[in-house]
Amino acid sequence: MQLPKYFMNKFLLLIIVLDCAASAKMSGHFYKVQGNVVDYGCSMSNSTTAEAGLDLSITCGSLCQRYVNCRFFCFIKSTGLCGMFTAYVAVRWPGHPAFASTTTYDACYTSWGDPRDIVKTNSPFTYSSNEMGSYPKYGTDGYACLTTPAYFSTLMTTNTFSQIDLEQTTRVQAVILVTAWIGLIQDMDVILSNTSDYNLGQKIGRVNGIAPAWSPYTIVTNTSTAGRYLTFFTAMYGFLGFAEVQVIPQP
Ligand SMILES: *[C@@H]1O[C@H](CO)[C@@H](O)[C@H](O)[C@H]1NC(C)=O
Ligand SMILES: *[C@@H]1O[C@H](CO)[C@@H](O)[C@H](O)[C@H]1NC(C)=O
Ligand SMILES: *[C@@H]1O[C@H](CO)[C@@H](O)[C@H](O)[C@H]1NC(C)=O
Repeated sequence: MQLPKYFMNKFLLLIIVLDCAASAKMSGHFYKVQGNVVDYGCSMSNSTTAEAGLDLSITCGSLCQRYVNCRFFCFIKSTGLCGMFTAYVAVRWPGHPAFASTTTYDACYTSWGDPRDIVKTNSPFTYSSNEMGSYPKYGTDGYACLTTPAYFSTLMTTNTFSQIDLEQTTRVQAVILVTAWIGLIQDMDVILSNTSDYNLGQKIGRVNGIAPAWSPYTIVTNTSTAGRYLTFFTAMYGFLGFAEVQVIPQP
């Protein structure tokens, strides 16, 4: 079939318009993260794109979207290499230290991180106790790799807590967690207070029952109460822990 030139041009124009629409969606879906040194623990696939030189954030983003578990991708411009990962990565993730098992990319993007997140990787973080093998920094390091689990957990006791100092008075719209082992989040209260004494604070959210393991979990708090210290508290006998946390303030 021979299409008249006019229609052919219109058709090409339509393809270009659709392509731009897809690119806009892509950049809205993934957020650039600060870190670019990546541990291979969560690597699910590598791919060299034929279109090196094109916008690799779009090309690699499209590849990532073809995998159900791909939440994070990075690229190396010189080789057109896309590395795809299963990691939950917050926008504030600073990257891994360079080791033999890490690679430095030109840029990395995440579909999980929320640009509004105010938990810094060095936000003051306190807790009632710390279980051996888990480390406090893993709760706020901006990174959760579920194939090589790194998470924070208290010891198994009653009245367990962990607390993030937001360092400024804040109203909290949502708390987004990546959960760890089953049972680390169970019947948990979310409390906002003006001092580190959370007994004087206000309950702004709660997880009733057991949160699912190794998955993102959002607690909508939508509170009009302001406070500086955000505390997770479980009264019953058990652990309290998670692999990652983000706090989204009210706009
Ligand atoms: C991707 O490439 C790196 C570096 O060569 C390698 O260590 C990693 O195992 C690769 N990932 C997969 C899923 O093949
Ligand atoms: C924190 O202090 C402010 C100002 O006094 C007050 O409005 C707010 O209710 C307090 N927040 C909590 C959780 O007590
Ligand atoms: C929280 O607040 C936002 C904005 O005010 C609103 O759109 C949303 O529906 C609220 N969500 C809940 C669960 O109350």
